[in-house]
Amino acid sequence: MRNKVSIIGAGMTGSTTAHWLADKEIADIVLVDIVEGMPQGKALDLQEALPIVGKDLRLVGSNAYEATADSDIIVVTAGLARKPGMSRDDLLFANADIVRNAAQETIRYSPNAIFVILTNPLDVMAYLAQKVAGVPSNRVVGQAGVLDSARMRAFVSLELGISVENIHCYVLGGHGDEMVPLTRASNVAGIPLEEILPPDRLAAIVERTRKGGGEIVNLLKSGSAYYAPAAAVTQMVDAILKDRHMILPAAAYLNGEYGLKDIFFGVPAQLGRNGVEKIFEYTLSQDEMAALQKSAAGVAENIAKLKV
Ligand code: APR
Repeated sequence: MRNKVSIIGAGMTGSTTAHWLADKEIADIVLVDIVEGMPQGKALDLQEALPIVGKDLRLVGSNAYEATADSDIIVVTAGLARKPGMSRDDLLFANADIVRNAAQETIRYSPNAIFVILTNPLDVMAYLAQKVAGVPSNRVVGQAGVLDSARMRAFVSLELGISVENIHCYVLGGHGDEMVPLTRASNVAGIPLEEILPPDRLAAIVERTRKGGGEIVNLLKSGSAYYAPAAAVTQMVDAILKDRHMILPAAAYLNGEYGLKDIFFGVPAQLGRNGVEKIFEYTLSQDEMAALQKSAAGVAENIAKLKV
């Protein structure tokens, strides 16, 4: 039997995730959205593309959660996207209602599913989804770190003219402007970033990475990034379904790691068929640890506001 991935929210990120996932041919896909006809139309359109690209899988669009029954993975992208001038935190209360509902409905039909949360502010939404669904914390993970690290990798690649495959960057922390790009651990074919880039260029890349989401929001004017976020979710879904034991930067539940408790936060997380298998801890400098604590304080503040 094929794997099944349900994507809640068939907007830009949700439907682009379906596109990337279909190309990998690793699961049947269900798209759910509140807009009538839209998920059905997108699913059918993508289904009709498959003979051309030679992929066999089933796509279903629906306005009802029944269609998600027995999913292996639930991806939550439903919500409002940022507009220029809005921070991810501005979305907090509106998106909390949407994610609460999505978690309640999906867990009824897929009690064993693993949740991948994308809706912003995603560290907080992952926390909320885990509490509402009432599943063990290893079965919920938030997407942010893969995206933030990919942005940093793209900027380094553009700067140096070196293949993205040689560039390894690691970004920790909450998915906000306080995120912590780990320049010491990042490298180009093993050469530390700090040795290959002049300090001013490295500082500029760090800053651009932190503001990477906002840069796209300002350019698009309506809506936020979706190609790179969707590619990031796809990599996480692939790691889980194929039980790859792959270490990816992702928002995972912390119980003492990095000195943090009862929070979803961006850390290196090993992903496999059981979701988050293990969290890895870098030895951080004092400055890095301070930056991480600052980022965590922002996430904890928003979690507290929700009174979950
Ligand atoms: N149930 C199902 N779908 C919903 C609900 C709901 N209660 N409320 C909203 N949606 C749907 C919308 O109808 C829309 O199609 O969620 C979709 C969101 O899609 P977009 O507006 O295109 O936004 P997108 O760019 O995909 O971003 C979605 O992901 O990256 C984050 O910050 C981003 O929180 C935002 C989310």
